[in-house]
Order: sequence, then structure tokens, then C-alpha cells
Amino acid sequence: MSRDRTSHWKEVATAVHYARAAVQVGLGAGEKKLLQAYFPPSTKILEVGCGAGRVARGLLALGYPQVLATDFSPVMVNFAREVLGELNPAWANLVQQEDVTQLSFPDASFEGVIYAFNGLMCLPDLAHRTRALREIYRVLKPGGVFFCSAADREQGPFATQWSAVNPAKDEVLGDSWHDTPSSPVFMHSSTEAETRAELEAADFKVLTSPLSSDVAVENQFMKDFAGVTRFYIASKII
Ligand SMILES: C[S@@+](CC[C@H](N)C(=O)[O-])C[C@H]1O[C@@H](n2cnc3c(N)ncnc32)[C@H](O)[C@@H]1O
Repeated sequence: MSRDRTSHWKEVATAVHYARAAVQVGLGAGEKKLLQAYFPPSTKILEVGCGAGRVARGLLALGYPQVLATDFSPVMVNFAREVLGELNPAWANLVQQEDVTQLSFPDASFEGVIYAFNGLMCLPDLAHRTRALREIYRVLKPGGVFFCSAADREQGPFATQWSAVNPAKDEVLGDSWHDTPSSPVFMHSSTEAETRAELEAADFKVLTSPLSSDVAVENQFMKDFAGVTRFYIASKII
């Protein structure tokens, strides 16, 4: 029987790890630089897969008042409410439960969507990523911007390991389980060309896709939390 690729996210120990990151790590230097470049402070933002509110908390504190943070995991949602409410009690109301593959919002509801820290790549498979990207595209207004990141198979610290992998017939190259402070987590590592193609298949226009290490120098907290990843900024073509 195949392992459940989603259960990791519903565990309290996982949410505690992400709540610590929300408070201790906060917004990374690269995330901050790109988000400020592509999202004016007035942007109506939907964050999907928000975890315990690391990015939403950083954006609200930076002066982005229109952020709605969502996650499919009830445990993550509860922790995110605590993490945001600790800074400002009213911000606890800016969190709600949503599955990115079937969002409850009407078409064209947001000017920006964020799926930070390899979140898209933690979905169970290509079919789920495709559904998520179509939903994100649907809820964006024309001209709206999508920000996400993905573990990169060709660049960064694991490139040599990946280049030696020869998957079995029933396995997908890039799929793997990683140890964490709680249970192992499933994540897909992609090439830049693959993720750009998945974004384009959902009708996005990819504006840029730099490696995080080429965008900014991160502090040690962020390096330990996220390592090197590739950022993607894509827009809904008008
Ligand atoms: C790698 S974590 C990233 C957390 C957060 N964005 C951050 O940067 O700290 C991935 C997040 O996606 C959430 N997630 C997984 N599947 C989801 C789904 N189908 N819909 C919405 N969120 C999902 C998980 O619960 C988890 O919080």
C-alpha cells in the first residue's frame, strides 16, 4: 500500500515546527525582495498552504493589510491564527481553511497569490499540482501575479545526488521522502524547465525563475529552514 503523502501536514509536531519558523525565521530576504518587487502594498493577496503563518505574518508586519492566509490542515490553521493573533488580535481573523486544489473563492478574487517554501511541490503528484495551478489561475484577476518556490533538482546542494538517481518504472524522478523534526515529508524536486512548463500549461506567463541564492543572501535561520530553492514569479495573462 502506498504511503499517505498528506498526513505529515496534519500533525501537531509539524505545525509546531512551522510555528517556530514563523516566529524565529520570518520572511526570508529573497522572499521579501521579490514580493516587494512584484506586489505593491495595496495588493489583495491570497496565501495558500500558509503553514503556521510565516509569510502572512511577515507581510502584515511589512504593511500589506490585505492578506488572507489559508491552509488545508486544521492544525496549521489553528497555529497560524495564534501566530498572527500574537502580533495583532485582529489578524487572527485573516486565516481560513482552504484546499488549494478546490478553492471556495469566486473567479478573479485576488491580485496576488503566494504558495511559499516548496508548498506546491509537497502536493502528492502532478495531477494535484495541475489542479492547484488551475485554481490559483482561476482566482487571480487578469494581470495578477503568482509567487511560488520549488526545490530544484539540477542546481543547489542536492544536484549531484539527483543526477545519479535512476527511478524504477513505477517511480517519478524527483519524488522523494525527506526526514524532518516530525514525520518524513513527501516532496517533488523539479527542474526549472519542468516547473515552467507546468505553470505555462495552466496558462501562466513565467516572468522570472531565479535560484534563491542569486536573489539575496539569507541569514543562518533561513538557510537552515529552507536551504536553496528556486523562486517562480508568474502572471495571469490579460
Ligand atoms: C512546505 S509547507 C509551507 C508552509 C508555509 N508556506 C511556509 O512557507 O512556511 C506546505 C504547506 O502546504 C500545506 N498544504 C499541503 N497540501 C495542501 C492542500 N491541498 N491545500 C492547501 N494547503 C496544503 C501544508 O499543510 C503546509 O502548511
